[in-house]
Amino acid sequence: MGPALALGADRGRFIVFEGGEGSGKSTASAAVVHRLEAEGIPVLHTREPGGTPAGELVRGLLHEPLAPWAELFAFLAARAQLVATVIRPTLERGEHVICDRFAPSTFAYQAHARGLDSVIVRTANAAATGGLEPDLVVYLDIAPETGLARKRGEAEAIRTGLEDLEFHRRVREGYLLQARSAAARWTVIDAGLPPERVAEIALEAVRATLHR
Ligand code: TMP
Repeated sequence: MGPALALGADRGRFIVFEGGEGSGKSTASAAVVHRLEAEGIPVLHTREPGGTPAGELVRGLLHEPLAPWAELFAFLAARAQLVATVIRPTLERGEHVICDRFAPSTFAYQAHARGLDSVIVRTANAAATGGLEPDLVVYLDIAPETGLARKRGEAEAIRTGLEDLEFHRRVREGYLLQARSAAARWTVIDAGLPPERVAEIALEAVRATLHR
């Protein structure tokens, strides 16, 4: 995992926002980025899948029925490109990165919920990221019933958003297991709180990480 170690001590912080469908993570991360920028702290805001031209093509694939392993490698292709061309160079310049979704999504959706072999998923993910791990994961926790009801109001119908409730319950469980096993680096926020309050709690956690 050489490349991860190549990041110097004065590198920027890498913060990831996670959550199930309709958790409001993109709204919360945008609010945090807005507040930091207003204070003169530059932050690069990106998302997965996406954030690069190739990654946005992978986002287009979400509408295609993909076999589980094909889906895994599509997400990992987008991640490898984003890490190599955007995230790592930005962190190396000493700037902070906030990314909507990263490896915790893959562990929750493809490994825990879809049931792909978690050792293989972890190994393939480590290869795609060069071992890069978030300094902080902000997880917006919501009951799938509530999240999916919110999501149905959105114009963009994402294929994985239309999975059955049971799948999304497993996704949530997959997130909560990760939060428990890496508690020092995770902040879990009740996404049922008003959006301003969610953004406030998230900002507090992000600030603590930036000052670490
Ligand atoms: P979003 O717009 O809510 O971020 O939608 C992206 C969809 O892709 C969402 O259903 C979660 C899914 N996804 C995975 O299943 N695995 C992954 O590794 C990533 C990044 C996303």
